[in-house]
Amino acid sequence: MKILITGGAGYLGSVLVEKLLVAGYEVIVIDKLLFNQTSLLQYTSNPNFKFIYGDVRNEILLEKLCKEADAIIPLAAIVGFPACAADPKLAKEINFNQIVNIVKFGKGKKILYPNTNSGYGIGEGQTECTEESPLNPISVYGQTKCEAENFLKTSTDAIIFRLATVFGVSPRMRTDLLVNDFTYKAITDKYIVVFEKSFRRNFIHIEDVVSAFIFMLNHYDEYRGEIFNVGLSDANLSKQELLEKIQAHVKDFAVVYDDYYEDPDKRDYIVSNEKIEATGWKPEWDLDKGIKQLIQGYQMIVPKMGAEFRNGFPLGYANQT
Ligand SMILES: NC(=O)c1ccc[n+]([C@@H]2O[C@H](COP(=O)([O-])OP(=O)(O)OC[C@H]3O[C@@H](n4cnc5c(N)ncnc54)[C@H](O)[C@@H]3O)[C@@H](O)[C@H]2O)c1
Repeated sequence: MKILITGGAGYLGSVLVEKLLVAGYEVIVIDKLLFNQTSLLQYTSNPNFKFIYGDVRNEILLEKLCKEADAIIPLAAIVGFPACAADPKLAKEINFNQIVNIVKFGKGKKILYPNTNSGYGIGEGQTECTEESPLNPISVYGQTKCEAENFLKTSTDAIIFRLATVFGVSPRMRTDLLVNDFTYKAITDKYIVVFEKSFRRNFIHIEDVVSAFIFMLNHYDEYRGEIFNVGLSDANLSKQELLEKIQAHVKDFAVVYDDYYEDPDKRDYIVSNEKIEATGWKPEWDLDKGIKQLIQGYQMIVPKMGAEFRNGFPLGYANQT
C-alpha cells in the first residue's frame, strides 16, 4: 500500500515515516521543510521511500500525488496557536484548503486525519469529553483544524483522530508541547513559571500516536468514518500534577505558579479514550517513560539549541501549548 504523507518531515511525520517503512508500506512525503529539518535523510536509500520538496498549495503537484496513493495522511499544517495567530490567512490555506483539495483529488482513498482535542476546552461543562462532546475552538489554529475535521466528516469516510497533547522525542523535535516544554525548562533553566496550574489536559506519547495511525490503516474498513480520541486514560493531569512527575525525575527543579498569561484555547478538560481502547489498540508509553526519554534526548539536543527554541518566551517562562 502506498501512503502519501503531507508534512511528513514534521514532528509526528518523522516518526510515522520510520514505522510505516519498517511495517513494509511505500511512503511518499511532500514537505516544504519549514524548519530546515533533515529528519528523513536516513531513508533516502530506501526504495519504498520518496521525498518531494514542495508546497501543498501547489494543486497540480498535490493532485498528482493524491492520485498515486492508496491512503493519505495530511499532516502538513501551520501548527499551534502562536504560528496561526501570526498569519491566519496562511493557516487557513494550509490547514483547511489543503484538506478540501485532498478530498477533491483523493476520491475513494483512505484518509487518516489528526485533529487537536484543544477545542474541548470550552465545552459545555462535561466532566469527561467523549467523541460526542462539541468542539468549540477559539484560536485560529483550533478553528482551522476543526473546520477541516467537519469538512472531512461530511464529505468522506475518513478516520479522524482527536489527539491529546503529544509528548516524546522526534528527529524534528518540538519543544513547545507541554510535557516537552516543561521537561526542557526543568533541565535547562532549572525553574519554571506556570500559569493556570490546575488546568487539566490529556497526554499521549508520539510513538503511540503513530501506532494508532498504523492500527487504523490496518483496520480501515472496520472503522471508516469514525472519530477517536487518542490519549492516555491514566494521564488526565493538571499542570501541577505533571510538574510533580517531572520533579520526580529532575532534582532541584523549582516551580513558581503565577497567572501571567492565559491559554487562548482554555484547555481544561478530562478526555475519555474508551472508544479507541475498545478497538483493541493499546498505548505502550506512560508519562514517566516519556519524561525519561525526553531527558535522554535533550542531552543531545540542548547543547545545539539556540534562543529560537524558546519560542519567544523569556528564560523560565513556558509557552504551555
Ligand atoms: N503534535 C501534536 O501535539 C499534535 C496534536 C494534534 C494534532 N496535530 C496535527 O498533526 C499534524 C502534524 O503536527 P506536528 O506536531 O508534526 O507539527 P510540525 O510543525 O512538526 O509538522 C508540520 C509539517 O508540515 C510542513 N508544512 C507546513 N506548511 C507546509 C506547506 N505549505 N507545504 C508542505 N509542507 C508544509 C512543515 O514543514 C512540517 O514538516 C498537524 O496537522 C497538527 O495539527 C499535532
